[in-house]
Amino acid sequence: MEMSGGMDGLVAAGIVVRFGGLIALDGVRVEAAPGHITGLIGPNGAGKTTMFNVICGFQAADEGTVELNGVDVTKESPARRARMGLGRTFQRMELFRSLTVRENVALAAESTHVGDDPLTQLGIAKGGRHVKAQVNEITADLLDAAGLHPVADKLAGEVSTGQGRLVELARALARRPRILLLDEPSSGLDVKESEAFGELLVQLVNERGLGILMIEHDMSLVLKICDPIHVLDFGKPLMVGSPAEVRASDVVRDAYLGKADIAERV
Ligand SMILES: Nc1ncnc2c1ncn2[C@@H]1O[C@H](COP(=O)(O)OP(=O)(O)OP(=O)(O)O)[C@@H](O)[C@H]1O
Ligand SMILES: [Mg+2]
Repeated sequence: MEMSGGMDGLVAAGIVVRFGGLIALDGVRVEAAPGHITGLIGPNGAGKTTMFNVICGFQAADEGTVELNGVDVTKESPARRARMGLGRTFQRMELFRSLTVRENVALAAESTHVGDDPLTQLGIAKGGRHVKAQVNEITADLLDAAGLHPVADKLAGEVSTGQGRLVELARALARRPRILLLDEPSSGLDVKESEAFGELLVQLVNERGLGILMIEHDMSLVLKICDPIHVLDFGKPLMVGSPAEVRASDVVRDAYLGKADIAERV
């Protein structure tokens, strides 16, 4: 790993990804700083999820670099990047449906200790009890922050989509990320749930200082809580700007043309 003295947070620069003849990403730069919610938007197939996969290390880039807190992690494994403070959620919800909400969050909190002394993991060493207390504390704190206490002992497979999205968020937070990538976190939520979810994200960023990079199709949510916003179209970087700049942009309007539901709100 090389130190480049770059910024605090995430910088992915000059990212190129080719799938056969298709150029999914063509020189894309995305930054995400702690204390901010950065938006990543663009029509279906623009390359947003592919960009997340490159940032996390699930997809190798043909060109470009990924830096975390000024450290080049382009060649590091996804697990290593996670340990360096990068977290994510997936476009399709991934919960353990037959475990309770509380168990889902606790398992994620425990997983931060993978790589620790194996005796500690087994709870045999002196530290074992301490780890358990710490996991319980983190779990309670996050259930509280996400407002999940009322459903903490329900099976994750039995809660509403909105609550499921909150469990997913709490699971990701349990790993203590500095930068958290959320792929369409509000999908399946109604307007009210989506608003509450947005307020929770703002609160988390303000109170805990983490940075969020968010892919989201709900433009009213994006324009309300994301700044700056990166716009992609067919793998190309269209623009980066404030909500007001994105709203006023003809280029963005054109990219969304034909997608009336989005265009109306841009
Ligand atoms: N593993 C893959 N192999 C081949 N093509 C792929 C692969 N993953 C993505 N693509 C293609 O790359 C392009 C970008 O896909 P991607 O999933 O990143 O878009 P997206 O912006 O997340 O879209 P959506 O808003 O629908 O989630 C699409 O044309 C997609 O079909
Ligand atoms: Mg996607």
